[in-house]
Amino acid sequence: MPVYVVTGTNRGLGLEFIRQLASSPSNTILAAVRSLPSDLGELRAVASPTTHILECDTSSITSIHTFAKAAAQILNPSNLKIDFLINNAAINPASWQSSLTLVPDDLTAQINTNVLGPAKTVEFLLEQNLLSENVRILNMTSGLASLKISAEIKPRKAAGYSISKAALNMLAVHQAEDLKEKLPGVVVIVMDPGWVKTRMGGNGAILEPEESIGGMLKVLEGLKGDDNGKFFHNSGEERPW
Ligand SMILES: NC(=O)c1ccc[n+]([C@@H]2O[C@H](COP(=O)([O-])OP(=O)(O)OC[C@H]3O[C@@H](n4cnc5c(N)ncnc54)[C@H](OP(=O)(O)O)[C@@H]3O)[C@@H](O)[C@H]2O)c1
Repeated sequence: MPVYVVTGTNRGLGLEFIRQLASSPSNTILAAVRSLPSDLGELRAVASPTTHILECDTSSITSIHTFAKAAAQILNPSNLKIDFLINNAAINPASWQSSLTLVPDDLTAQINTNVLGPAKTVEFLLEQNLLSENVRILNMTSGLASLKISAEIKPRKAAGYSISKAALNMLAVHQAEDLKEKLPGVVVIVMDPGWVKTRMGGNGAILEPEESIGGMLKVLEGLKGDDNGKFFHNSGEERPW
């Protein structure tokens, strides 16, 4: 009975994670959404009987804390621990901004949601003693997080988002080492889903969500201990930092 936690699941890649995970009745799934009152019709349509929809605004420390406590209330009575945590929620609100036109509030919002969100989600779930000894943590990154790939991209784009995802990559390197002291079997990775047709990826993207997430779940579920701290593409190939 593996337990999966995914953030940002009302649409896009998060929704596709839940659709694929919910097709297996043995999976227990905590599907986190920014706001419970919002329209969750698509998510409810793909959810299985063992899918629990919970609120977690990953830009709010208070909301993440409340989410971790709500997760404990669901998992503790059955002595369940989290086997897979997918930090998926993220924003890219100002992709036209370059390094010469960064707007402070936009960059701060991206650091809050894209970096602090995954950091505090891990911290508070650990605090609630909910992470299994061999937990696999996937932080959703981007090719734009790679220093090598970013340097070669023309036309230049999304400087703030790229900076926040590079910071997420560094967060994962720290999490991989810090968590190993408490959970010796932990594997923390960052993975680039490829360029996928979602609201963020746009209609011009190359991949359908089914293909991207199918590949990602294969990589995630096949991770070995020595993959801790690595940067993957959804194909399973390693990405340059
Ligand atoms: N699509 C691509 O080509 C691509 C490429 C590289 C990396 N990625 C990464 O893949 C992940 C998913 O992207 P996507 O394409 O599915 O993006 P998307 O279509 O824009 O969906 C983003 C999801 O994150 C949620 N979210 C945003 N801010 C949140 C917050 N503060 N609290 C909780 N949830 C929040 C959104 O919920 P709301 O509806 O409430 O806003 C939505 O469910 C992201 O980490 C993204 O950076 C995507």
